[in-house]
Amino acid sequence: MSARRLAIIQPEDFKLSASAKKKISAWVKKYPKDRQRSALIPALWIAQKDAGGWIPEAALREIGDILGMAYIRVYEVVTFYTMFNMAPVGEHHIQLCGTTPCWLRGSDDLIAVLERRIGPRGSVSDDGKLSWVEVECLGACANAPMAQISNAKNDHYYEDLTAENFENLLDNLVAGRKVEPGPQNTRYTSEPEGGNTTLTGTGPYHKTKLINLPNTDKKTKLNYYMPDPKDSRATRGGWVDPDRKASADPTKRGSNLGRDLTKGLVDDDPNKGRPKRAPAKNNKLKTSAQPSFKPKVIYTDGPTDGTPDDLKKINGIGPKFESDLNRKGIYYFRQIGAWKAADIRMVEALIGSSPGRIKRDEWVKQAKKLAKVKA
Ligand code: FES
Repeated sequence: MSARRLAIIQPEDFKLSASAKKKISAWVKKYPKDRQRSALIPALWIAQKDAGGWIPEAALREIGDILGMAYIRVYEVVTFYTMFNMAPVGEHHIQLCGTTPCWLRGSDDLIAVLERRIGPRGSVSDDGKLSWVEVECLGACANAPMAQISNAKNDHYYEDLTAENFENLLDNLVAGRKVEPGPQNTRYTSEPEGGNTTLTGTGPYHKTKLINLPNTDKKTKLNYYMPDPKDSRATRGGWVDPDRKASADPTKRGSNLGRDLTKGLVDDDPNKGRPKRAPAKNNKLKTSAQPSFKPKVIYTDGPTDGTPDDLKKINGIGPKFESDLNRKGIYYFRQIGAWKAADIRMVEALIGSSPGRIKRDEWVKQAKKLAKVKA
C-alpha cells in the first residue's frame, strides 16, 4: 500500500452538516466521559459520507475538536485505514480486493477492466461516476474475486466477479440501474457453485427423510448424518434413545449406530419415542424399585477413557456403590463432577441410595476436586 496523504487541493470552507454532527454526538454519548475518542472511527465514517465520499482536512480538524484529540492522532487513523478516502472519489467508489484468493480467482482481469474504464489506481472517471483503488482482503474470500462499492447510501459487496459480469455491473451503476449486491453468478451466498460437492454420498451413516419446513406445505428432502458414537467423546449426557438396550454389562450395550437420532427433532411429535416420566406419587421418590424410565445420567459405554477412577476415594462411596455406579456406566470422577440436581436424583433412584445423601455427602464437590488432582 502506498503512502496516504491529504489531498493537495482542499475545499476552501468545509463544515460538517448539522445532521452529521448530530450523528457523531450520538456516537460520542455511547462512551464514558474520558473515553469519547473511542467514537473516532464512526465519526470519520459519518464525516466521509457527509463530504461526498472522502475526508477533507477541515473535517479531520473538526472531528479532532469534537473529540478533544490532537489533529495528528486523527490523521494517523485516517491514513491507516483504506476505508477512509483522502481525496475526492467518484459517485460509485470501488475498492477491489487484490489479495491472494481474489488474485488466484482472477482479480487481475478485473483490474484490467478498471484501468481501461477509469484509469490507474486512485483515478476518478472523467464523468465522475466511478473511481477505484486496490485494497487488501475484505473478508469475502469464499466468493473471490470481489469488490466493495460505496456510494452516498450504500457500501455493498459484489462477489464472484468475472471480467464480463463486472463490465455489466459497472454499466448498470453508471446508467443508474439497480444492481443486486452479493454473488454475481448463480450462487445465493457462499454455497458450492453448481450444488453440493460434499455430503452427497449414500454411505453407511447417510440418511434422508422428507420433512415439512416452516412456512411451506411442500415436503423437502433433508439429508442427515449419524456419526458412529464410538468416534465421539466417550462421556456425554442427555437423552438416551429409548430403544437402546441397557445391559448391566457395558460392553454388551446396544449403540445408537444405525438409529434415527433425529427422531423427535424434526417433523415428528417431539415427545414421540421419548421415555415417559412416571407421575410422582405424594412427591416421594421411588427408592426401592428401579425407575420406570431409562437413565438420563452422564454415562459411558464402558471404561473408555482408560483405567477407571477409584470412586471409593469419594467419602460416602463404598465398594457396593462403586460397583453399582460402574454398572450404570459411571467410572470416572469427572462424570460425577458433572452431575446436576436431576442426575443426582436419578442416580439415587438407580443405586438405591437414600434421597439427599449424595448432596449431603458432597459427592459432586469431592469428585470435581479429585478430577482436578488427576488432571
Ligand atoms: S482475498 Fe479477496 S476478499 Fe479475501
